[in-house]
Amino acid sequence: MKKITIAVDGYSSCGKSTMAKDLAQMVKYNYIDSGAMYRAVTLYCLRNNLFDGDSPNETALKNHINQIHITFQYNEISGKSDTHLNGENVEKEIRSMAIADKVSPIAAVDFVREALVKQQQAMGKNKGIVMDGRDIGTVVFPGAELKIFVTARPEIRVQRRLTELAAKGEDVTFEEVLKNLTKRDLIDTTRKDAPLHQAADAVVIDNSDLTIEKQNNIMLKLFKEKTE
Ligand code: CDP
Repeated sequence: MKKITIAVDGYSSCGKSTMAKDLAQMVKYNYIDSGAMYRAVTLYCLRNNLFDGDSPNETALKNHINQIHITFQYNEISGKSDTHLNGENVEKEIRSMAIADKVSPIAAVDFVREALVKQQQAMGKNKGIVMDGRDIGTVVFPGAELKIFVTARPEIRVQRRLTELAAKGEDVTFEEVLKNLTKRDLIDTTRKDAPLHQAADAVVIDNSDLTIEKQNNIMLKLFKEKTE
């Protein structure tokens, strides 16, 4: 069976990662969470005081960008890939609200995107990959054979993220999460460089009322149509 490239894009917290991860597992492809890469750069910036308030200090960040190395390593215990920043496992830290709060301004910096897109394209050069993010079907892999654009109703997205954060012991309110998602979506869709939008040839899946089983069946059907 021929190997293809699969791009999964969509708004914050609409379940892209779960979908992309499940699809990769079902079809035995590699899964890459491109958002984790932007989150890891954000963590680096916070640790190295590269923010002026909410905005990145771009001049200072430019001097650091070549020292930021992000890799993914399989974790035997969780059975998932963990994000490593310069060799350190930062998987847990990058999922916090503190990072979510600052990541979109970092992802709007053109030379950050340039560096990460280059790495993402290298990861997918042999196909057989599912990558999720905001610009995968439009910029990273415009030639991807299967493009999925995921949406879900706002209240559902907030509830899912709240449940996820609560499970990790973060005490945040519905309003705080809603504010963060709204702010990130606004920055992600209006930035100059690679704004989030649906690729013309993407299939839209609204998963608000779908069970995991149902959404997996829909994705598998799409995959088969493209590969058989
Ligand atoms: O999981 P969630 O929807 O919260 O976001 P994420 O996929 O972890 O991505 C975090 C942030 O990184 C997004 O809000 C975007 O600002 C940025 N991002 C991007 O610009 N391009 C990508 N390909 C992936 C993420």
